[in-house]
Amino acid sequence: MATAYKLESNEVDPLDVSRAELYTEHKWQEPFRRLRAEAPVYWCANSEFGPYWSVSSYKAIQHVEALPDIYSSSWEYGGITIADRDQFEDPKIEMPMFIAMDRPKHTEQRRVVSPAFTPSEMVRMSDEIRQRTAETLDGLPWDQPFDWVDRVSIELTTGMLAVLFDFPWADRRKLTEWSDWAGDIEIVKDPAKRDQRLEKLYEMGGYFKKLWDERVDKEPTPDLISMMIHSEAMKDMSMGEFMGNLVLLIVGGNDTTRNTMSGLAYSLNKFPEQRAMLEADPSLIPNAVSEIIRWQTPLAHMRRTALSDTELEGQTIKAGQKIIMWYISANRDESIFPDADKLDIKRENARRHLSFGYGIHRCVGARLAELQITILLEEMAKRRMRVNVLEEPVRVAQSFVNGYRKMMVQLEKY
Ligand code: HEM
Repeated sequence: MATAYKLESNEVDPLDVSRAELYTEHKWQEPFRRLRAEAPVYWCANSEFGPYWSVSSYKAIQHVEALPDIYSSSWEYGGITIADRDQFEDPKIEMPMFIAMDRPKHTEQRRVVSPAFTPSEMVRMSDEIRQRTAETLDGLPWDQPFDWVDRVSIELTTGMLAVLFDFPWADRRKLTEWSDWAGDIEIVKDPAKRDQRLEKLYEMGGYFKKLWDERVDKEPTPDLISMMIHSEAMKDMSMGEFMGNLVLLIVGGNDTTRNTMSGLAYSLNKFPEQRAMLEADPSLIPNAVSEIIRWQTPLAHMRRTALSDTELEGQTIKAGQKIIMWYISANRDESIFPDADKLDIKRENARRHLSFGYGIHRCVGARLAELQITILLEEMAKRRMRVNVLEEPVRVAQSFVNGYRKMMVQLEKY
């Protein structure tokens, strides 16, 4: 079993799956296949993000996620992405967010926002989502090519966030811009861009601070800012913590769902027999939603840091080491998902995907994400709308957000 290759200092480790080009060129499948087969827990000694453990099998990732007292999410040790926090942020300001906290504070803060995502809230929100989705689809041209990412994926998810925050509608694309800056881990490699990123985050913090001040003395309303203001656990957050949690909700709710909506068009086009099945039978939509989220895996990884020496699948992990859980690989694990590279909208266990993570940090917005994708497919079906992808999309160049920048399409009625 391979654990680490002996490399010359400048040599690229073929099993270093953090390299951005694997994602832009869409060729991450092969190295992960090798990792799962040869070394599901692999020490990558050399990478641009420093040394890290690659955990690539479904079972091993579940194991790590189930032990949050050993495998910490805390920002104090490095946070939740392969880019270390001190590489990423200005060390003078701290932007803790609850996804990057351990118990008990994680539990307290998660509890504040989770009422926004209950089944009854989903029922309350669904009419608004349907109406916005219908308007967006009705505004699309049938007779000429357009960018699906911009006109559909960004428009719908940014609109959703604006509703969740009760954010000024005319300024909603600012949310997209902030989200793109906040979620790009490649920025750690470029000091000038790091400064620019920080500026953008301050702009975001300032904007939201104004909204906070306007609402602080008002009666509670169902938006996320008001929920934070009126909670014991979050009402006294520092500016840094407020910004951190905003980044979490904006990137959490935005890039991920956006890239699922793009992955939806891309994967159905790539597997036309699956698309034909869905077009013929819309009752397959709920399972297709899970399968598309599995197939796309919008967040390729999450990171943990070991708090004590431990053992994982026969490998010795030392306290302080970085552990990367590759969801993108777990969702291609053939021992769980046969013929895993294929989109199979009738796949019996599609819901077992790890795209939302697992355990105490499992995505709090999962129901809302599924609802938005379900409504998008339903409204497309009502219009008998087929999306033909005209050329290979431009992909996001990094190993955290697994998605699309631009995808030219042409609509067709079936
Ligand atoms: C398809 C869409 C989505 C995907 C793939 C996704 C994925 C994830 C993943 C992988 C995690 C971390 C899980 C872990 O560490 O075990 C997470 C956490 C989180 N997500 Fe999502 N997410 C999506 C949509 C959303 C939406 C729509 C929202 C809210 C508007 C949201 C808000 C959050 C928050 C607040 C957390 C932190 C939970 C915690 O630490 O307890 N996500 N998400």
